[in-house]
Order: sequence, then C-alpha cells, then structure tokens
Amino acid sequence: MAYQEFSMEHHWLPFTPNRSFRKDPRIFVAAEGMHFTTHDGRQVLDGISSLWCVGAGHNRKPINEAIKKQLDTLDYATAFQAGNDQAFKAAEIIAGMAPGDLNKVLFCNSGSEAADTSLKLALAYHRACGEGQRNVFIGREKGYHGVGFGGMSVGGIPANRKAYGAALLPRVDHLRFIHDPVNHAYINGVEPEWSEDLLLELEDRILPLHDPSNVAAVMVEPVAGSAGWYLPPKGYLRRLREICDRHGILLIFDEVITGFGRLGSNFGADYYGVVPDMLNFAKCVTNGVIPLGGVICSDRIYDAMMHAHAGAPEHAVEFFHGYTYSGHPVACAAAIATLELFQQEDLFERAGQMGLLLGDAMHSGFKGLPNVIGIRSLGLAGAVELSPVAGAPGKRAYDIFMDCFHHGVLVRPAADNIVLCPPYIVEQAHIERIVEVVADAIRRHA
Ligand SMILES: Cc1ncc(COP(=O)(O)O)c(C=O)c1O
Repeated sequence: MAYQEFSMEHHWLPFTPNRSFRKDPRIFVAAEGMHFTTHDGRQVLDGISSLWCVGAGHNRKPINEAIKKQLDTLDYATAFQAGNDQAFKAAEIIAGMAPGDLNKVLFCNSGSEAADTSLKLALAYHRACGEGQRNVFIGREKGYHGVGFGGMSVGGIPANRKAYGAALLPRVDHLRFIHDPVNHAYINGVEPEWSEDLLLELEDRILPLHDPSNVAAVMVEPVAGSAGWYLPPKGYLRRLREICDRHGILLIFDEVITGFGRLGSNFGADYYGVVPDMLNFAKCVTNGVIPLGGVICSDRIYDAMMHAHAGAPEHAVEFFHGYTYSGHPVACAAAIATLELFQQEDLFERAGQMGLLLGDAMHSGFKGLPNVIGIRSLGLAGAVELSPVAGAPGKRAYDIFMDCFHHGVLVRPAADNIVLCPPYIVEQAHIERIVEVVADAIRRHA
C-alpha cells in the first residue's frame, strides 16, 4: 500500500494523547483476517480485536456482502413511528441468543448509548410500577459504561469523571472494586474464591445509606474489561442477583465486551449462570464493522411499561426515548450476517478453546518477568499487570504498548495493564507471536 499524504491538523483522536500521536502516528489503511496494514506499509497483528469488536476477524466477506446488499435495497428508513425488516430480524436473533426472559431489544448505536438507555429505562420502569422514588444507581469502582453522562456517572474510572464534577448524576454510589492483588494476583481461567464477602458492604452500608426502596438499579460489567480484565469472585454475580431481587432493584449487565462470545458463551450472563434484568451490548454484534448497540430487557420490564399505558390513548408513546439511527437497516443487516457467521464457524466455542491457549501462554510467558505483579485470564482475554513507574502511573504500560506496535503487534494499555483479546479466529502461532512480542517489550522496559 502506497504511503498517502494527509493532514493531521483536523482529526482530534479519542482517548489518545494527541500531542505525541503526531510525532509517532499509528494509522491503519487496510485490514485482513488478523492483520492491519499501516500507512507506511507495515503489517500489524491485531491482538485486541480492534478494541473488543472484531471477533470474526477483519474483512469478512459475508458481512461486507450483507451490508452492500442492504445498501442497494433499503439504505435507511426513519426509526420513529415506523420500522424496518432488518431491525426486526436482528432483534429476533439477538433475543433468541439471550438467556431467560431477556426478549425485547432496544437498539442504539454504541455502548455509551446502551448504558444511558438502560439507566433511563430503569427509571421509567420503576415509575410505571408506581415507584418513581427509585432513582439511585449503583455502579462499581473502575467500572466503564462509556462516556455519556449516565454511563460516566455510574462508571468508576476516575480520569473519565474528574473534569465533570457536579454535572455527573447526583444519586449514584459505587461498589468496591473486585481485585485482590495479594491472594488473587494470578488467575488462569478460574473463578477466584475469596474468603471475604465483597458484597457485604452493599447490604450493610450502601443500601441502608440510600434505603433500598430508593435504589433503581445496579449496573456492572460481569468482567471489568476497560479497567484491565478483572474477574469477579466466585458466586459474586449470583449473590448480586439475589440482593437485587430481595430489594426490588434492577440488575443491569454491561456486556459490551463480554457479549457475543468473548467468554466462549453467548453472553457473560450464560457463563456465570446469572440472568440480569437488562443486558447492554455493542461492538461484536456487528463485528465492529458498523456501529450498533442495544439493550436487551426482560419481558417483565416491557410488560410493565405497556401495562402502565393500558388506559392511554392509542397514539400514546410508552417510552420517550430513541435515536435517529435506532435499528438502522444497514447496521442490523451487518448484525444478522455477523451472528450467522459466528454460528456457522462455531466461533464462540473456538473463542473458549483458544482462550485456554492464550491463558496458558500468558502465564508461562509473563510470570517472573521484571515488574510483572499479576496475570489474569478468562475466556479469550487476559491482562498482565505491571508495577507502575514511580510518579507516572500508566507510563510503563503505554511504553510497552508503543514498543509492541513498533514490533508489529497491537495490544491495549489499561492503567498499568497490558490487555490481550484477539479475534476468535486467532491461531496458536498468533498467540505465540503476541506473547513473545509483549514479553520482549516488558523486558526492554524493565
Ligand atoms: C463495558 C463497556 N461499556 C460501554 C462501553 C462504551 O462503548 P462505546 O465506546 O461504543 O460507546 C465500552 C467500551 O469499551 C465498554 O467496554
């Protein structure tokens, strides 16, 4: 691919140090399978599924063809007061994949919008049930639910919140984080068994403080992804479900990362055997090719919202919420093709199997290297945690990320973790290459 001149004056990159990017740009111009081509003609192995999106690998023809066909058939149609066939079909497939009575899909365009949609639906649902006082949300420290005001407030990543002060939602509390660096620094594909009950503080402190009757919902990621792949203790999610049930609180799983195969199952909810009241998704649903997100909610929530309007006139809208592009036909056509491809190639099963190889390779390749203080792997993802450079948190992981990129592997720095989450089509040789490049970079930055 020939080098192409372009100005870098105008594009403000998201979640990126823009000043240093200019000095050493990382620009992709093509992708195929497991690899990118950069603007200067190099091949880079995608060790992070392009931010947890590209489960089926890059440039998959069935998805591309479905998009092209849809563009030539129905390019776009308004989503309000009308629908399109692709959105109904995609919703049917997604609901069919979801556990329990999660049967109704509200589409949006991203994980951030899914977070805010689910929080708004929680408030609207409680109001419909005559419990409009329930307006406290509970998230978790280091949780990530995108960048909208709702998701950011319930999220618990300090850097994402610190500039927004009083603009954050006022009635939000946070569970403590799920990490034990002493007893569970190294976890390979198992559920860590804690002697301490991490949810005692929810029952004994947080709920009494707000009074459970005021709490609308608890929102957590089954596995804390953006923070650096931190795994819940054994039984944690089940117990969270029980506590929510006891107090009439809705449980929302943010499965933007864990949804659609990352743990070797349809959803994290399946992996952990816990059915939430709402499940947020995005990313892998279209293999990342076209933006699409959504919330799958229970029949109970849908029915309550409809029931509350039983006496209302026919034209009354039950939920005043939606996006111009909710259920966009091209995005939904991409989702249908993606989900069919996942099934045809048995890619979730494959993710589970390759995850075992990734976990073993990470533990044998990284343990004992300089500054390595933890390794956590589950499903087809894992993180190696490094001790921070004194006075410069995040710098070591950032430097290692840059080093890996220059050696042809894209990894993800998250605080002082390096996170790996390759596409489900990954081969053993790719895993070996990724681990070798990361290990060498860790040594170089000792
Ligand atoms: C768990 C989780 N929720 C929400 C989001 C936000 O998604 P988006 O960037 O599509 O808005 C992400 C993104 O990584 C995520 O990991």
